Amino acid sequence: MCGIVGYVGSRDATPLLVNGLRRLEYRGYDSAGVAIQENGHLEVRRAEGKLDNLVQAIAQKPLTGRSGIGHTRWATHGRPSEQNAHPHVDCGAVTAVIHNGIIENFAELKAPLVSDGHRFSSETDTEVVVHLLEEELKRGRPLEEAALRVLPQLEGAAALAFLSVKDPGKIVAARISNAGGVIVGYGEGENFIASDIPALLEHTRRMTFLDPGEMAVVTATGVSFRRLEDGAQIEKAVQQIQWDAVSAAKAGYKHFMLKEIHEQPRVVSDTLIGRVERTSGRVVFDDDLKLTDAQVRSLQRITLLGCGTAGYAALAGKYLIERLAKIPCDAEIPSEYRYRDPVVTGDHLVVSLTQSGETADTLGAMEEAKKRGARLLTFVNVMGSQASRLADDVIYLHAGPEISVASTKAYTTMLVDLYLFAIYLAQRRGTVSAEEAGQLLAEAFHLPTLIDAVLGEEPKVKALAYRYHQARDFLFLGRGMNYPTALEGAHKLKELSYSHAEGTAAGEMKHGINALIDETLPVIAIALRDSTYKKMRSNIQEVRARAGVVIAVADDDDEEIAEHADAVIRVPHTNELLSPALAVLPLHLFAYHVADRRGNDVDQPRNLAKSVTVE
Ligand code: G6P
Repeated sequence: MCGIVGYVGSRDATPLLVNGLRRLEYRGYDSAGVAIQENGHLEVRRAEGKLDNLVQAIAQKPLTGRSGIGHTRWATHGRPSEQNAHPHVDCGAVTAVIHNGIIENFAELKAPLVSDGHRFSSETDTEVVVHLLEEELKRGRPLEEAALRVLPQLEGAAALAFLSVKDPGKIVAARISNAGGVIVGYGEGENFIASDIPALLEHTRRMTFLDPGEMAVVTATGVSFRRLEDGAQIEKAVQQIQWDAVSAAKAGYKHFMLKEIHEQPRVVSDTLIGRVERTSGRVVFDDDLKLTDAQVRSLQRITLLGCGTAGYAALAGKYLIERLAKIPCDAEIPSEYRYRDPVVTGDHLVVSLTQSGETADTLGAMEEAKKRGARLLTFVNVMGSQASRLADDVIYLHAGPEISVASTKAYTTMLVDLYLFAIYLAQRRGTVSAEEAGQLLAEAFHLPTLIDAVLGEEPKVKALAYRYHQARDFLFLGRGMNYPTALEGAHKLKELSYSHAEGTAAGEMKHGINALIDETLPVIAIALRDSTYKKMRSNIQEVRARAGVVIAVADDDDEEIAEHADAVIRVPHTNELLSPALAVLPLHLFAYHVADRRGNDVDQPRNLAKSVTVE
């Protein structure tokens, strides 16, 4: 959840590090800092709060040098403050460390160091690492050898990088356990490290991803890799990344979130391209889905896992797969699944959904399922991420870089891929006719145009957001396929606006939620003309009978609905199973505009982070 960057080369490292941190700020923004090493000195600048505070600190007291590391923090151990900001240095300010993750045994490691006279200046778990290194470096070891002695002592989840005047012009970076990615980027006469691809795209597309238990030794002229377990040198492949720097920038939009919402017609097209075999009309996924047709036919159960927004996609996936492929499915929260002693039966497929592929709870649940004998499939956006390595089968989302903490286009591409996957399963199990599958796929290919039409409704959604932006509570209602959409609408509004919002299955209102309804409560009801339409209309009546304010999301030709609602947001008609990919769009726009109207930081909501690599 924190972001780390590093540079060694012949250019001035500070602006490069600050730029890299700018692209990683979505991972955490409680504090930021850089350490630069040059001419036998290590200099550190740190500041509490957003990156701009660090930029000011650097402007007041500039620092230059050709190797450096930088960090943007999401606080776990120790409150957000300059003192707790990374990089942390040892007693002699000789070595600096940056860290993403949690060192669970830091207290045990710290006690003997304190008795030996080490002075700690922060409340973090991280600082212990640099004092351990100090002990090893005192014995004249090169930085990587010192690191190889220290890193195996650390328990927990971590990505770390070190820089030391004792071994100049070198960064040592390591990945311990699943959480916290480390990527090495290759330049000409310069090399980089970072937590995530966007921080490096400006400089290179040639990258190597560290696996857990690996270390990289990076200098201006070369990179080598070692295994933490035994220190052995290892070879790692260089990957060519397709994303470009332009697609990771704001492109004139006020916020990344708005840009990412508007990219959806294109990314949904990218998701659909190549996924239907012309001759057979069958859905196909690329080489990373290795399930055989025989294995698909013998599947007995599917468990879908995802955190936050990805969790609502998992629930939609359950509805889709059960409806089309008739396989019993569960949708579960990974942090519950991994610790509740789950039952994995034979021929059990566990499907994880994750934009980043680095969410600690999701990875933990995947490992648990694997241990119990499940086959693992992941739907993931970030290539080379840990989820993609852990899984037996991978379906890439093709959403492009998603920077805003609030996930939008990754959610839509998850829905579309799940829809295709449900058809894929149904075709192989013979639970849809060729004609029905053809119809479902034709409708999918029409989706980008329909998404474009919904995005055209933004001025209306914005006006509604401005009208209701001061409400303290909101209620989102949906049924059937759009029950997960209601949950996602409420989730987005909460995380961005800081208002209370609740999403519920409309049929459940009478069992409790009705007590909340009065004239101050805006109720956003998804009332599309599908198999639940009549029931939904009755639920809307129930809200109105209790003086609630109803905003309906309805089909564009539904004249009747206006009589039942205070305002109507129109979406074009598509089939019920695909409709969540349209119905969610006005809800994302609504949350965006409420938050923006309130003056909140839309791309970086308080207390949250995009990539949650701690439990
Ligand atoms: C964080 C983000 C959410 C995201 C969730 C899962 O909580 O703030 O937007 O839905 O993590 O992330 P993943 O990368 O696994 O999809």
